[in-house]
Amino acid sequence: MSTFEKVLFILESNKDVYTSGEDMAGELGVSRNAVWKAIKELREKGYLIKAVSNKGYRLSGDSDIISAEGIKACLTPGFDSAGEIFVFDSLTSTSDKAKELAIQGAPHGTVIVAASQTGGRGRKDHSFFSPEGGLYMSIVLKPEALFSTDSKELISFTGDAVISAIRELTGIEPYVDGINDLYVDGKKVCGILLESGSEFDSGTLQWIVAGIGINFDSDIGSFPQEVRERASSLFTRGKATVTKNALIARVIEKVLDRKQ
Ligand code: BTN
Repeated sequence: MSTFEKVLFILESNKDVYTSGEDMAGELGVSRNAVWKAIKELREKGYLIKAVSNKGYRLSGDSDIISAEGIKACLTPGFDSAGEIFVFDSLTSTSDKAKELAIQGAPHGTVIVAASQTGGRGRKDHSFFSPEGGLYMSIVLKPEALFSTDSKELISFTGDAVISAIRELTGIEPYVDGINDLYVDGKKVCGILLESGSEFDSGTLQWIVAGIGINFDSDIGSFPQEVRERASSLFTRGKATVTKNALIARVIEKVLDRKQ
């Protein structure tokens, strides 16, 4: 982890309190100047960092930029996700990236997140409109670490996992409609796509990728007409009661919760 990432993790883990540059430098074993440089770099990337002399630095509660450090800071202490979390500003599709990594041998629990997708995919070759404001994530699942590899069971389990993550953090209670679309008040707020890869010779299932797209505080008015009529977002822009990092962390915990 770079000093930048370590400082971000400390700030994301201590949103309510100020941490002095000296304490951070001591904890990380780096100079105060290195901490200051990291703070400057974070501000340049858009993080709202408050600084008070004699107290230190604090990430503003309004700061909600998706990052691996921000997600990890929201994971329940002791939660053991075997895989790494990779975050991108934009990807063609988080599931394409996850599949690429799964083929290369990425372990169970590897997570790919993007703030937007340029080629988001849904079931049956449909596109999944994925502008900023949504959460787009794909989780690599390995058959040996799962309670079941039955597609119906896994589809239903993933939908339930996302529903309970949303309910626990926001109080909103989506319901399943269709194969695994999540709706609130008759409008789609989330699409889930499970894909798998197997060895053709033996038919052995090698990996599953669970792709989850949630309209978080998406500007539904900017969606294409045919999608706009059927879609909704958990929150209106600027009115979210939880951070994106927190919801991503809870979804990861719920999806990776059940072992055999
Ligand atoms: C559907 O509505 O048919 C399923 C949509 C699944 C969308 C998610 S967003 C993250 C992941 N990446 C993709 O390209 N698709 C899934």
